Amino acid sequence: MIDLEKVGVPVIDADHQKLAAVAESLRRALVQRADRVTVISRMNELIDGMCDHNNLETLLMRSSHYKNSAAHRHDHNHFIFMLSALIVDYQVDQRPVIQEFDVLIKAWRTNHIRRFDQPLAEAIRTHSARQTAPTPQAGNVLG
Ligand SMILES: [Fe+2]
Ligand SMILES: [Fe+2]
Repeated sequence: MIDLEKVGVPVIDADHQKLAAVAESLRRALVQRADRVTVISRMNELIDGMCDHNNLETLLMRSSHYKNSAAHRHDHNHFIFMLSALIVDYQVDQRPVIQEFDVLIKAWRTNHIRRFDQPLAEAIRTHSARQTAPTPQAGNVLG
């Protein structure tokens, strides 16, 4: 199983695990040189999952007032674009594209999660702590 760093927000961690399982089954299909229909359907499943994940994290970025949302979404879109390009390479070159796939997955599980998802999780925790903090009483505000 692909080893993933947890961010501590259950809905994000669960989605990451789901994506890792799809990525793993795609990698297995590539290594075993499964038929084209199987490989392309798993590639499409991973792209769909990444699009859904982008939507999920975009909603969380909005609701938690996360500051770096443009760069975060750009990194998601770049990943989705690179996966789509991999499908083309696979179809045109008729080769397993495992090395490129491994580079992409490594970038997601290390760079993306550390650089963008961990700070998003922190913003969610901070926002939720603010929401649940007791509101100051009039006497406290006025001294
Ligand atoms: Fe994520
Ligand atoms: Fe993300």
